[in-house]
Order: sequence, then C-alpha cells, then structure tokens
Amino acid sequence: MNACIRAVVRVGLEHGMEVLGIRRGYAGLLAGEIEPLERRSVVNVIQHGGTILGTSRSEEFRTPEGRAGAREVLAKHGIEGLVAIGGDGTFRGASALIREGGPPCIGVPGTIDNDVLGTDRSLGFDTAVNTALEAIDRIRDTAASHELLHFIGVMGRHCGWLALAAGLAGGVEAVLVPETPTDVAAIAARIEEELDRGKRFFIVVVAEGDETGGARAVAAEVERSVGRGSRVTTLGYIQRGGPPTAADRILAGRLGAAAVDGLAAGHVGRMVGEVEGKIVLTPLEETWAGRHELSADLLALSSRLA
Ligand code: F6P
Repeated sequence: MNACIRAVVRVGLEHGMEVLGIRRGYAGLLAGEIEPLERRSVVNVIQHGGTILGTSRSEEFRTPEGRAGAREVLAKHGIEGLVAIGGDGTFRGASALIREGGPPCIGVPGTIDNDVLGTDRSLGFDTAVNTALEAIDRIRDTAASHELLHFIGVMGRHCGWLALAAGLAGGVEAVLVPETPTDVAAIAARIEEELDRGKRFFIVVVAEGDETGGARAVAAEVERSVGRGSRVTTLGYIQRGGPPTAADRILAGRLGAAAVDGLAAGHVGRMVGEVEGKIVLTPLEETWAGRHELSADLLALSSRLA
C-alpha cells in the first residue's frame, strides 16, 4: 500500500493536483484526520509493508448519516477526487459515497486474498505468497529430516488463491481450498498408500476458509485414520506484513498512477486493475458482484505435480 500511496502522491503532483492523505481510512475521514502529502512525505516508504496512513473498519461510514458527515469533511477540505485502496468493504463505501453526491472515487485493489474481481493480482498478494512460500521451504527441512506429516494453515477466509499459489510454488503434496470440496478420508488414504510405498514425509497446505475448519482440524482427522503424529503450523499475520516483493511494488506503482490518471480523465466509480498485463477499469459495483475465480488449471496442476 505504501508503494501505491507514493505513486498516487507523485503522479497527483505531476498532474498539478494538491494531494491530501486521509489517516485511518473512513474512520479517519469522519474524524477529519487529513493532511497534505508532498513529494518528501513519501520518501523511504516503498520498501515498507502496511500503510503509513493506517487503516480501520468504520461502522459509522456504513450508514447514510455517517457518509453525509464524510461528504461534509471532504467538502470542507476541498477534496474533488478520492483514491481508495482496499477490498470489498472499501469499494462498497466509495460507491455509496459517489451515489449520495460525494466526489469521484477510484478504487485500487489491496488484499492478500486476491479475491477482487477485475484484476489478476491485488496489492499484497505476491508478497504474502512469497512469505508463505519461505515458511513452506523452511518447514520442508524439518519435515524431510524428521519424516513427519505437516499441515500448514495459510490465510484466506473465503478464498484459496494464497494457499494455491504458495502450495504450488512450494511443491507440496496437497492444497485444500474453500472453492472445492475437501475429502479428508481420501487424503488420509493417499498418505497411507504413499507411506507404504516409501514416501517419508508429507506437506499439506490448508486455506483458513477450507470447509474442514482449517489445518488443525484436517491434521486431527488424518492423524486418527493414519495412526501417525503430525505437526501443524498456522502462519497467521506474518503473511500480512514485511517488505513488498518487486512484483507488488511495480503493480502498486502502475495501479496508483492509473488511479490518478483515471481521476484526471474524469472517471468516476471505477476500480483500476491489471488484467493480462494491461490496466483495466471496472465499475466498482462489478468488483463485488462476483469473486476473482480460483484458477482451476493451477489447482489441477498442483495435484498433477504433487
Ligand atoms: O486480508 C484478508 C485476510 O487475510 C483474510 O484472509 C483473513 O481471514 C483476514 O484477513 C483476517 O484479518 P482480521 O483478523 O483482521 O479480520
């Protein structure tokens, strides 16, 4: 997000705009936490995870009264266009704001879940994949040395993109995601069969939102039927931080610049995304009408290569 904020500031100034930063998302907007951002405000931020502006969830902004208050704050500061970085909730808020007479808004997809429709990748996804991958590689050393079954829980409450990408890149034995039914008995049978054939260790990546209940639940069931101990590692919030990868920083630069160019060109209520390498603008309402579908090809490949 910082690399994106940096791009928005620098491209906004290039357009001759005055750029303001709103702290703590919609909650900060309601509280009037707004400050000018200059070129030097975004020096030395590109390599940091998180967001220098902070973020929040605002119940008040979900109400028409709350948004009326937000419009007043925006008008008081002379804000004529808004770039909103986030996911579903952020875009719904921006869309409602426009509908009720607020300024033009452009959304930038920022979520490690990569579940936003209208972009192949959202900001943070590639970094989170690489963080999870590094963890898988490290766990593999223990798994191989101790000849154990390992279950690794990765984030993704409703979506298996992160589990799939990290699991495929990590060469794990199975990837369990919420988008497809999980047959734990079949996985246990496969593990038993392969152990009998001489395989020494097994790594299974489980998305947090898998209908089995996650890595711990799957591990318990497999242990029961295979009669062998296992280890569970839940990666948790380490997936949401740390220095962004080059791919994420470049994407952030492209999308941040495209968002400001879009506002300057008069676009209202669109999300900027990258689809097959090209910048694409999608109406905000379409971004939450569906979900960025998990690649069935990659899922099939992950099991073919396992
Ligand atoms: O960023 C999305 C996400 O990583 C989900 O996959 C996860 O369920 C959620 O955030 C957890 O975040 P929080 O605990 O802040 O609700």
